Amino acid sequence: MVLVSGAGTNLQALIDACADPAYGAGIVAVGADREDIEGLARAERAGIPTFVRQVSQFTSREHWDHALTDSVKAFDPDIVVLAGFMKLVGEDFLATFAGRVVNTHPALSPSFPGMHGPADALAHGVKVTGATLFVVDDGVDTGPIIAQTAVPVQDDDDVESLHERIKVAERKMLVDTVGRLAREGFTITDRLVRFGG
Ligand code: GRF
Repeated sequence: MVLVSGAGTNLQALIDACADPAYGAGIVAVGADREDIEGLARAERAGIPTFVRQVSQFTSREHWDHALTDSVKAFDPDIVVLAGFMKLVGEDFLATFAGRVVNTHPALSPSFPGMHGPADALAHGVKVTGATLFVVDDGVDTGPIIAQTAVPVQDDDDVESLHERIKVAERKMLVDTVGRLAREGFTITDRLVRFGG
């Protein structure tokens, strides 16, 4: 199961990987928090079921979270991948899928959490940044780290060029790591994530 909010290039990388049976995983459905995004179109083109749960369609954030949880639960996923999903999931969602929700963030955690990872890294003047795949907890980009990939910052970078370079590395990290999670399983001890059952 993959949740998206935008272009869905990370989703596309997963769709492409899943085409090979040796990858060991399949995408049961793609959910989104908004209509008319390329991420949903990518899923539809691949013949993957989709659904949309928009916060504005619900009377409260809790109701939205409950509906999102039910929609995801209906597909009985082993792992939920947040791939550019720009909403914080709520208590219901986390309780239902505890330890099985992973998110990709375009910065090297614990630096630069939140919505503006590439811009914050650039503004800070770091020379290396990257992307982090982590197990979602109730903080903002704070959960146990599964994988990280480093990307150099260039002198002439703007936010867009830096984010695009990060996304190339991020997609590879996501595909490699989600495949391992699916094939090998994983454990979490305190904050330490290890592959293997
Ligand atoms: C990724 O860099 C993700 O980490 C960030 O937004 C971007 C989504 O890209 N939160 P895409 O929709 O997968 O192309």
